[in-house]
Parts: sequence; C-alpha cells; structure tokens
Amino acid sequence: MPDYKIAPSLLSADFARLGEEVRAVIAAGADLIHFDVMDNHYVPNLTVGPLVCEALKRHATVPIDVHLMIKPVDRIVPDFAKAGAGIISFHPEASEHIDRTIGLIRDCGCRPGLVFNPATPLDWLDHTLDKLDLVLVMGVNPGFGGQSFIPHALVKIEAVRRRIDAVQQRTGRPILLEVDGGVKVDNIGAVARAGADTFVAGSAVFGATDYPATIAAMRAAIAAAAVEGGG
Ligand code: DX5
Ligand code: ZN
Repeated sequence: MPDYKIAPSLLSADFARLGEEVRAVIAAGADLIHFDVMDNHYVPNLTVGPLVCEALKRHATVPIDVHLMIKPVDRIVPDFAKAGAGIISFHPEASEHIDRTIGLIRDCGCRPGLVFNPATPLDWLDHTLDKLDLVLVMGVNPGFGGQSFIPHALVKIEAVRRRIDAVQQRTGRPILLEVDGGVKVDNIGAVARAGADTFVAGSAVFGATDYPATIAAMRAAIAAAAVEGGG
C-alpha cells in the first residue's frame, strides 16, 4: 500500500492563531502542512508570503508544502526556500519558463511540484515529469477554500497515476500525486482509488471541532478504499 499523506491547508485555519493551529494538526496526525500563497493576480484572492512561512517553520515538525498561486513565480522561490519550504509547487500557466522554474526550486534545495487546474491539459507533464517530485491535481479552481470537488478531476488523477507509474517503473524515483480542493471524509476514498497518495484538506480539517478524529476518519476511508480496490 502506498504511504498515504494528509496535508491540512492552513487557508481554513484561524489566521490569528496560526502557530497553534500548525501544532494542533501535526499532533492530530498531519504529514505535511499545506501553505497556500495567493497574489490577487494569478488568482482572485490574497493570502500570505515567505514571512509567515518563516514564522511557522518554528512550529512545523513536518515538511511545509508551499502551493504558489502567483504570477510570476521565479522571483519569490528563493525566499520560500529560505523561509523553510520543503516542497514548492507552481502552476505552469504562471511561469514563462517552466523547466527553469523547476530547476530553480531544486537548486534552492526544495522538492519541485507542478499543479494542474481543472482545465489545464496534462501535456505539460510530457517534458517535465522526470524532473518533478510531486504532481498536484486541483479538485477545484484555485483561489478559495470550501469549494465542491469537481468530479472530472478523478479522471485526471487516474491519468496522472498512469504517467507516474511509468516513470517509477523506469527510474524507481518516487513522485507524489497530490490532490487539492474539495477533499472531504466522504470523497477521499474515491480520490485514493483514482490513484492519489497525498491529500490536501482545508475546510474539512480546520472546519471540524476534532482534528484527530477527522484525520483518523480520512485515513480509515483511504484504507477502506484500498481494500475495496484490492490495492
Ligand atoms: C484552493 C487551495 C486549497 C484550499 C483547499 O485554491 O489551493 O489548498 O485551501 O481548501 P478545501 O479543502 O476547503 O477545498
Ligand atoms: Zn492549495
């Protein structure tokens, strides 16, 4: 069975108590902290930057998974690396030179990821997958937490799974398949069955009163789906 990872998104956390929220979800079983960066340009919302990432690094005993929804990308990458990012993902539409951005993230000591919006074709993986550590499939259009999962994303996850498996068979190199947006306890099993191994959940975790119970319910739903699917 793959090593499944739960990545709570701070977008739905209490922004007045972010350090405490980070510690709470890690104590509840989070494997990654998902950190959404929005610029009111690439997406119609504005969140936080490297200063906040750096401040939270002291509280984060698991890797920080930075999701850049910003354009341009390159200028700010080294700042997030210095601020303690473990993974840095970006959207191909937001970079003029995708291969250069992937190399920059790697050269800064972070793991590079490429993000696919619901209507973004997977062709962008043709010449990049060998250099990526993570592929992120959006279950919603980026910009806001609390939106509903777009069912067609499941087909996309299956297609990315096939591409990643082919690379892994050839190289043995692990590549995470992460899904972000609209993931809840009641659909995380289907997302896992489609082939995801890393699950971002914002409102489903931070909107719950009991973080450990919610993360445990997600893991149970993933395990049940794996048994059903024979995986
Ligand atoms: C959306 C963000 C997501 C968001 C997910 O643009 O990238 O990470 O926080 O929130 P939920 O899980 O509530 O859909
Ligand atoms: Zn995100």
